[in-house]
Amino acid sequence: MSVPLMQQMATAGRRVLVRVDFNVPLTPEGAISDDSRIRASLPTISYLLAQGASVTLMSHLGRPEGKEDLRYSLKPCAERLSTLLGQPVFFGSHKNIRPGEVLLLENLRFYPEEEAGDKTFAKQLSHLGDVYINDAFGTAHRAHASTATIAQFFPHKKAAGLLLQKEIKFLGEALINPERPFYAIIGGSKVSSKLGILKALVKKADALFIGGAMAYTFLKAQGVAVGASLVEEALEQEALALMSSGKIFLPIDHITIEGDEVMGPFPDGSKGADIGPRTIWEWTKRLKEAKTIFWNGPLGIFEDPRFEIGTHKIALAITNGNAVTIVGGGDSVSAIEHQGLGSKITHLSTGGGAALEFLEKGTLPGIDALK
Ligand code: 3PG
Repeated sequence: MSVPLMQQMATAGRRVLVRVDFNVPLTPEGAISDDSRIRASLPTISYLLAQGASVTLMSHLGRPEGKEDLRYSLKPCAERLSTLLGQPVFFGSHKNIRPGEVLLLENLRFYPEEEAGDKTFAKQLSHLGDVYINDAFGTAHRAHASTATIAQFFPHKKAAGLLLQKEIKFLGEALINPERPFYAIIGGSKVSSKLGILKALVKKADALFIGGAMAYTFLKAQGVAVGASLVEEALEQEALALMSSGKIFLPIDHITIEGDEVMGPFPDGSKGADIGPRTIWEWTKRLKEAKTIFWNGPLGIFEDPRFEIGTHKIALAITNGNAVTIVGGGDSVSAIEHQGLGSKITHLSTGGGAALEFLEKGTLPGIDALK
């Protein structure tokens, strides 16, 4: 791994400044609905505390657009972290803490300078630590003040945390040099938001299974009548170019929003909402051949129980074989967790956009800044 590692850094008795990604999903009432990202940062925090460091954590939450908006306060994360660590977590603005103590700063995105990658702001933050650790894989695709700019103020005193190292290991080593056959499953609604990764995967993977609404753009480009399904017409040529690789598998049947099974042309006005039973059967059979599987994006409108079957059955299929399985992206990860399959996946990435960009480009601004 070409980034400096946290374990090689002297941290005992030092003030360690750690960028974490506590951008967790919240319920409408403001409670944390999934604390996986907080749990994923525990190995780094516990390691530093055991070394006798004082730990100042910084993160963002949501998109408050540079203004103080208490709906996006990190206070609930400080409380959850305190429970998980079994010790107090100080919260808010800067204060002097002692070795073995933890402080979480308030949401950095309350300041417009954070997303602007502002140098003065980054320098001010840098005064809060003797050593800088980046453990925020989920935000490593953003070149922001706390994820990238700040690193220049810590020459030889910056390193990757344990979570960042783990993500680089699985997404980098396992997928850049995968055991073959390497199959990728990509879902979600829009081709436009995943074009970069589709182009990269068509080169790297041995087969690409495309589900979710984005499949309709591919089907329409092939001349299949898809009724009122979501189609990005401007991307039909790109879809045809990707299909010329001969590696793309599209759904062969569908469940419409009306709950009907469709094979072949859709009736006028009808809209696809999930992959159908023949597709599930066919893909399940093929996925058994894989030695490595990467999955990102749901295969239907899975948040509606009527259209969750495709996503759930494929989740089950990938956990039944012997392949190395890597899942990235909030929706696919929650589909896996929802079914209690998390422990059967080789690596559940904490990154959505970050995981896709890392696979596409092989690095990220937050990783480059540590080198
Ligand atoms: C994420 O959840 O993808 C990261 O925390 C980054 O958040 P952002 O998309 O608001 O920059």
